[in-house]
Amino acid sequence: MEDRGNERPGTGRITVEGRANERPGTGRIRVEDRGNERPGTGRITVEDRGDERPGTGRITVEDRGNERPGTGRVTVEDRGNARLETGRIPIEGHAMTTRREPGPRSREIIAREARHIAPGYQSFALYSGLAMARGSGCRLWDEDGNEYIDFIAGIAVGSIGHCHPHYVEALKRQTERLTFGSFTTETRARFLELLGSVTPEGLTRIQLFSGGAEAVEAALRLAKAATKRQEVIGFWGGFHGKTGGVLGLLGSDFKHHQGPFLPGQYSTPYADCYRCPLRLRYPDCGIACAEYVRDVIRFQTAGEIAAIIVEPIQGTAGNVVPPDGFLRAIQSVARDHGALFFADEMITGFGRTGSMWGMDHEGVVPDIMTVGKGVGGGFPLAGVVSTDALVSAKPWSNPSFSSSSYGGNPLASAAGLAALEIILKEDLVANAERVGAIMLAELGRLKEKYRTVGEVRGRGLLLGIELVEDRQSRRPLDKKITLDLYQECLRRGLVSMTYSPTIRINPPLVITEELAREGLAILDEALGVVLRRHGRD
Ligand SMILES: Cc1ncc(COP(=O)(O)O)c(C=O)c1O
Repeated sequence: MEDRGNERPGTGRITVEGRANERPGTGRIRVEDRGNERPGTGRITVEDRGDERPGTGRITVEDRGNERPGTGRVTVEDRGNARLETGRIPIEGHAMTTRREPGPRSREIIAREARHIAPGYQSFALYSGLAMARGSGCRLWDEDGNEYIDFIAGIAVGSIGHCHPHYVEALKRQTERLTFGSFTTETRARFLELLGSVTPEGLTRIQLFSGGAEAVEAALRLAKAATKRQEVIGFWGGFHGKTGGVLGLLGSDFKHHQGPFLPGQYSTPYADCYRCPLRLRYPDCGIACAEYVRDVIRFQTAGEIAAIIVEPIQGTAGNVVPPDGFLRAIQSVARDHGALFFADEMITGFGRTGSMWGMDHEGVVPDIMTVGKGVGGGFPLAGVVSTDALVSAKPWSNPSFSSSSYGGNPLASAAGLAALEIILKEDLVANAERVGAIMLAELGRLKEKYRTVGEVRGRGLLLGIELVEDRQSRRPLDKKITLDLYQECLRRGLVSMTYSPTIRINPPLVITEELAREGLAILDEALGVVLRRHGRD
């Protein structure tokens, strides 16, 4: 047993939860130390060396109180395949409260890149000051060897976590065979078959793209082709990418100074009940915002609506969950006006919300759906999903009219297939529901503890926190404070979107309860420190 930093690694009982691993002998198993005198504060890595089925079933690692690290005896008990073994396992410990700062390697690499990279890249990367070296599961390591729990997942991209062995193997295999071109491949056929088996009923036609905005634009072209109408309605707080064809549908300042927008694009209030745009209170409001869309159509449009585009949960706005009934009501409005009901499931799809699709929570099946982010497990992959009848619309269905250079290329298809196989095989949808519910309950405790926490919300592993100056006014907490919070989280080993007063938490779907609790404990500690520092405790 090796001690790498923790004062007393491996004391007490340690439970390791394994996931089925297809490649024998190559797995790494992470262990959370909960039996330590300081429960939940230690972290230990158990490396498997040559076991035929590493990580399958439940394994218990028991340290019998040896004080001399490096000589301890451990028992590995695999309840999954009834094998009991004793042996030596190297254990690495890290104290949770170890403080990390951007080290010399990070600083040097960032300085080099900064001479060339154009400004404007994603805030969480920019504000971190870190150069990342590698990832595994829900953990990241920077170039100086500091370890972090990942509550961002590339903003809900990393559904299956970092470098899942099955994913790595699938991409390696595909890279050796064929990497580009849109000829039919066995890989793409298998991917589409599997994807088509989990999409909502009737939505079995899929066209693949390499970015979310590109897919949304293709879907808008489809809606126009199918309805022969031109107008589209989006929502305040909505986000669908940053390309010219969607800007007018965004409900945020991402579109500021980018006008004029495409004619025929409108936006209407979303059911953001914490900050109701209509200044009403749910449920007394009767979800008035959904009915308000009818007025927007009546008074603002030419009455020729091709589609209403809506996120089942607004991700970019802060993982805002609408009340039950909102999405059904929007679907009714669309039906009543002969418009297509278009669900942008870019963030909410593939199990993120504890259900395969965000729309499942209301039992609503859209006419068109866009997918992205989690679908590729990190590879740039997105798609438009719709019905046989709709995708046949001309000119969308003409040869080359809905295609792109990279969409669904062999590598992207291999990534999509592997990611979906992992999601299904490891039942990550259920994991998102279970761990997400635990996290939401823990966030509720933060709300009780800190008056600055105005609201906590979420579904599955798509969670949000509103930090406010005071609960009465609900005015967002000063960004200076939240930028400080981001740094304090990083120093303690957590990357989470805490640099904004609307905190978004969306870890990889493979996260365990133990790691989720550990990350939240860091957030709690960092919040306490920062709020005290700024006189807000
Ligand atoms: C709901 C939704 N749609 C579309 C997009 C755009 O995706 P991309 O960044 O891949 O263009 C995003 C990105 O965050 C999104 O959240």
